[in-house]
Amino acid sequence: MKRRGLVIAIDGTIGTGKTTTARQVAERLGYRHLDTGAMYRAVALAATRRGVGPEDEDALEALLATATIDLDSGRGRVLLDGQDISEAIRRPDITRRAGAYANVPLVRHSLVTQQQRLGQLGGVVAEGRDIAAVVFPDAELKIALVADLDERARRRHRELTDKGVCITLEQVRSDIQTRDREDAVRDYGGTSAANEIVEIDTTDMTLADQVDCVVALARQRGA
Ligand code: DC
Repeated sequence: MKRRGLVIAIDGTIGTGKTTTARQVAERLGYRHLDTGAMYRAVALAATRRGVGPEDEDALEALLATATIDLDSGRGRVLLDGQDISEAIRRPDITRRAGAYANVPLVRHSLVTQQQRLGQLGGVVAEGRDIAAVVFPDAELKIALVADLDERARRRHRELTDKGVCITLEQVRSDIQTRDREDAVRDYGGTSAANEIVEIDTTDMTLADQVDCVVALARQRGA
């Protein structure tokens, strides 16, 4: 089957602008955006709604077999069984719970398989913690976005207050630290060679700078 373009894999810690950067790079290149974090969030939301905890593997397996998660890349929406859950999956309670579900091997296995299917023809900007190491180890471009903790907390706090969520900067900072620790110890099932990854420190960059930088790297590699 004819490939539609490169696979661009974007990894990054919380609050580095990973999702927005990936979405805008995809728009600029005419690629699809694959937000793998949104898929883990969707599982957390679906499980929470059904009262299924991360330790209940049988119920999780049944949930994964019956729930349909769709990424409507063009409109930036996430659908669960056809219902728009784009806002609900960004709520702080779901954000806090998502990591526990992402730790469950059968959840990871199911979502990684779906992600690989979605990206197999290329022409995709995929983002997530394990994207370069596990999901697309052969991606033509692998990026890691990093930024200072304080700057990440400020960005995430602004984003949440803009959405009308009442939360203090201190709480956001502490949530990020907790999630950084969880992300660091999670077993993703692989690691990427450091020399394959282009690290971009976004602390002093605007979003537009970040997007330009990734698009330029993608063009160099033939996008
Ligand atoms: O990137 P994010 O904040 O939307 O991710 C939501 C959660 O899912 C977070 O706890 C990290 C986890 N995650 C993961 O384990 N693997 C991925 N590929 C993407 C996200």
